[in-house]
This record gives sequence, structure tokens and C-alpha cells, in this order.
Amino acid sequence: MKIFLDTASIESIKKFVDMGIVDGITTNPTLISREKGHPEDIMREIVKIVKGPVNLEVVATKTEEMVEEGLRLKKFGENVIVKVPMTSDGLKAVRKLDENKIKTNVTLIFSSNQALLAAKAGASYVSPFIGRLDDAGQEGMTVIKEIVQIFGNYGYSSEVLVASVRHPIHVIEAGKLGAHIVTLPPDILGKMMNHPLTDKGLALFLSDWEKVKKEHKYTI
Ligand code: G3P
Repeated sequence: MKIFLDTASIESIKKFVDMGIVDGITTNPTLISREKGHPEDIMREIVKIVKGPVNLEVVATKTEEMVEEGLRLKKFGENVIVKVPMTSDGLKAVRKLDENKIKTNVTLIFSSNQALLAAKAGASYVSPFIGRLDDAGQEGMTVIKEIVQIFGNYGYSSEVLVASVRHPIHVIEAGKLGAHIVTLPPDILGKMMNHPLTDKGLALFLSDWEKVKKEHKYTI
């Protein structure tokens, strides 16, 4: 299962990339609006730091402008994936970008029907927003289950990128269902890493080792 980081924070990206646990990045206009600095500098910097796919979102809403913006974003680096919203103009842009050999990620997906259409249009990734579905009183993970099953039944090559993840249990559920990727805000990746028994266990090992050192006048 691949783990992407859902952030435009250079500091967070560097921190987790150094651990070797980040396969790619997703950004969106909201995430970029939270950072200081010029948006284009931020995007270029992320593309430089990360070896894997970096998803940069278009803000145009008409097909031709989306394609133009996508072609411009792609110039930031080979690893750029153009994120396009799930609209009829967006699907047409996906088709055109695909013809230009540019990979796309269709975002703002809230149903398995939308995911199916995005896959048919040629999206490399589809991004269902499960947390926002949960917030609206609809089981987000059911949509993941349906999409994974439909893509499997018909051999669609689009990868299911689980977005709007709210807690570590979402990650386990997505993994059990066979979703290809989860994209996580940095705090959730941090929560996945920590366990109080790990901290307690390490503290005990270290204090026991202090006793060994004292008893044997051992310095290591
Ligand atoms: O990348 C988009 C998605 O993950 C947004 O999540 O928390 O704004 O619903 P959220």
C-alpha cells in the first residue's frame, strides 16, 4: 500500500521523506493557501524534494484552460500528476491530458459512479473523499469498497487514492479493502507511528541498561 502525504508544508514533507515512508504528495488549493510563500515556489520546491508522484491541482474550470494549466504544471517536473476536479469539463481535460501522455488524478469524488467515469476518461488516479462523506452521514469506506470491486471486475488500471482521511483506522480499513494509496495529513501519519507501549517499553529498556552500566562500569 502506498502512502502519500496530503500537505503543502515543506517542513512536514522533508520530515517524513527523510524517514523513507512517503511515496508521493497530494496538494490542493486549500492546503497551499495555508502556507506562506508564493504558490509556484512551494509547488516547485515539493517537486524537487519528492521523488514519487506530486499531485498539483488545476484551478481552471473550463476544459481548454484546465489542459493549458495542466501542461504548465507538468513543466515543474516529470513526477507531476495533474489533479482535475470531477466535472464534465474535468473529464474532457483528463482525456486530452492523457492523449498528451500526462497523468491525471480526478479529485472531489464522492460516489463509485463518479470514480467509474473518471477511470473510463483515462485518469491514472481517482480520489474519493471518505472523511467528508463520513461527515455528511454517509459511510465513506463503502464507496472505497465499491470502487475497488468495480475496477477489479473490469480491469481498470486507475489507482484508488483514498483521500480526506481523518484517523489511522481509515488507513487500516482502506488497506483491508485493497485500495492502492492513502493520502494522509502529517498528523495522522504521526499517529500511525506512535504507540504508548512503544514509549513505555523503550523507557524500561533504557533504565535497565543504566543498571547494567553501573554494575559493570560499562560505558556504552
Ligand atoms: O487532498 C484532498 C483531501 O484529502 C481533503 O481532505 O480533510 O479537506 O476533507 P479534507
